[in-house]
Amino acid sequence: MPSLPITESNESPSLIGKVAIITGASRGIGAGIALDLARRGAKVAITYASSSSTPLVTDLINRIDSLTKAPVDSLSPAAIGIRADLRDPASPAKIIAHTIAAFGQTIDILVNNAGITNFTPLEDVTHETVNSVYDTNVRAAIFLTQAVLPHLPSRGGRIVNIGSGASRGGYMNCSLYCASKAALEGLTRCWAVEFGLRGVTVNQVNPGFVKTDMMKESSDETIEMVSRATPVDNRDGLVEDIAPIVAWLVGEESRWISGQVIAASGGYQMY
Ligand SMILES: NC(=O)c1ccc[n+]([C@@H]2O[C@H](COP(=O)([O-])OP(=O)(O)OC[C@H]3O[C@@H](n4cnc5c(N)ncnc54)[C@H](OP(=O)(O)O)[C@@H]3O)[C@@H](O)[C@H]2O)c1
Repeated sequence: MPSLPITESNESPSLIGKVAIITGASRGIGAGIALDLARRGAKVAITYASSSSTPLVTDLINRIDSLTKAPVDSLSPAAIGIRADLRDPASPAKIIAHTIAAFGQTIDILVNNAGITNFTPLEDVTHETVNSVYDTNVRAAIFLTQAVLPHLPSRGGRIVNIGSGASRGGYMNCSLYCASKAALEGLTRCWAVEFGLRGVTVNQVNPGFVKTDMMKESSDETIEMVSRATPVDNRDGLVEDIAPIVAWLVGEESRWISGQVIAASGGYQMY
């Protein structure tokens, strides 16, 4: 993962004392979010699925340990890793149990980031394909958010869903992915209403193309076309472009923003 520049704002300790769960944080956007939130003082639970990602998570935890200031509460670590396949209905309870065992009963922030893409023409779509995409991209967010609810603080909890600009476009053979991310937008808006009286904000960040393993699943021609059509700098997005937006949304200063979907695509998607 490319390193985040260490600037004064990145080092701002605005999230000191907060506990955050970030799903799919072994690599890519999730890892960048975990690092950014930790740098701002949050204690982070990093979830992931594959055994092959365990070394990545160990590296990330070491990096967080070395970059963060001395822990406020030295009895608990700055970061933990939790391997839990979100397609498994037992995973939300496992993630919560590990998080509260490490950091205590309150979970301030949930970032539903884990996701998979899928390129299958409709005539080849099976029940298994639908289940795999929806279980990861939609059902996991529903049941992990449900599991977090009893642990949110009495005021000021934060939920951020990571969607995709694909949710508002039409793309060849990409209907399941696009529809799953559009479903997440519906959840975002309704949860913003449902939890608003508890001072909880719920928002969604929709990245455009971001240089991660997932981006490699799109064709070079498509990536090149999008990059050329991106107003800001005519380039692909970077993890470092997305993480600070999420960090701001989970902080105190964004308390009056809820139910919003924010396109983070250098202006490629304007809505
Ligand atoms: N990259 C882009 O261009 C782009 C654009 C728009 C939106 N997004 C969205 O941004 C989010 C992150 O994307 P990314 O590019 O960072 O993806 P990525 O590099 O492919 O990383 C995906 C992460 O999700 C985890 N994950 C995948 N399936 C899982 C499952 N069943 N259970 C638990 N964790 C699972 C992976 O864990 P393992 O390492 O263990 O596999 C990994 O940590 C996704 O929701 C994606 O849809 C990405």
